[in-house]
Amino acid sequence: MKIIQSKNKLINLINNEKNLGFVPTMGAIHKGHLSLIRKSISQCNKTIVSIFINKPQFNKKKDFKKYPRTLKKDISILKKTKVDYLYLPKDNQIYPKGQNKKIKIDSFSKKLCGKFRPRHFEAVVDVVHRFIKIINPKKIYFGEKDMQQLILISNYIKENKINVKVVGCKTIRERNGVASSSRNNLLSLKEKKIAAKIYKMIKANKRKLIINKISIETVKENVHKLGINKIEYIKIFNINSLIKSFDKKLEYKIFISYYLGETRLIDNI
Ligand code: PAJ
Repeated sequence: MKIIQSKNKLINLINNEKNLGFVPTMGAIHKGHLSLIRKSISQCNKTIVSIFINKPQFNKKKDFKKYPRTLKKDISILKKTKVDYLYLPKDNQIYPKGQNKKIKIDSFSKKLCGKFRPRHFEAVVDVVHRFIKIINPKKIYFGEKDMQQLILISNYIKENKINVKVVGCKTIRERNGVASSSRNNLLSLKEKKIAAKIYKMIKANKRKLIINKISIETVKENVHKLGINKIEYIKIFNINSLIKSFDKKLEYKIFISYYLGETRLIDNI
C-alpha cells in the first residue's frame, strides 16, 4: 500500500489509472468501512482510500476534537485489506482557498439530520467534490448507513454531471443488529443493549408503519419506554422518491436519530 500526503505526488501516481475505486473516510476504520473497501477491490483494478477528518462538516468544535484518531491501527488494517493507495491530505491541500460557501445542494439536506446540523451536508458534498477532482475515480463508494449523505451526494453528482459512478453499499451491523460505527465504542454495555432493542423494535414494526397500522408517535413512545430521553427524529421516507439516479432499487426506510447519554446515533431500517 502506498501512503501519500502530497496532492501532486498523488496525481502523478494515479493519473494513468483507468479503473480506480475510491472510498472516502474519516478514519477509525471498522467493518462498515471495510465492506465498502472490499466492494471497491472486487469491482475496480485499484482502490484508493482517504482518511481526512473534515473540520467544516462538524457543527460543534467539541465533536471535531473528540473524533477518534487511530491512524496507526487504520494503516495496519488497510494494509492487510490490500488497499493500493492511502491518501492522507493536510487541510491546506483540500482547502487552499477555504470552503465553497456557495455550494447548492438538494433541499432534502434541510430534513432529518440537516435540520439539526445546519450546513453539515453542504460541507460533506463540498469535500467529496474536492476529492473527486483530485482523484478522478471511476467509482466512489458510500454506505447506506448514512443514507441521507449517500442520497445528497448522488443527486449532486447527477445534477452537476460529474463523471463518476456512485455505488451504495448496504449497512453492516453488529451481531445485536446495531449499525457498526466508531461511536459504538462510546456506549456502555447497558446502552448497547438499549440500542439493540430499539433496532429490533423498529425492524419488527416497519411493515405496520408503512401500511399505517401504527403511528410514528407510538414508535416514539416505545423508544422513550426503552430508556431514551432525547429523540431527534423518527421519520419514514420512500427513498426512491428522493434519488435522482441510483444503481439500486430502494424503498421505504425508517430514519432515526437519538441520543444515548452524550452519544448521538443514527440509523435507517
Ligand atoms: P465516515 O463516517 O468515516 O464514513 C465513511 C463511509 O463509511 C461512509 O460512506 C459511511 O456511510 C460508511 N459507513 C460507516 N459505517 C457504515 C456501516 N455500518 N455500514 C456501511 N457503511 C458504513 O461519512 C463520512 O466518513 C464522511 O462524511 C465523508 C463521506 C468521508 C466526508 O467527509
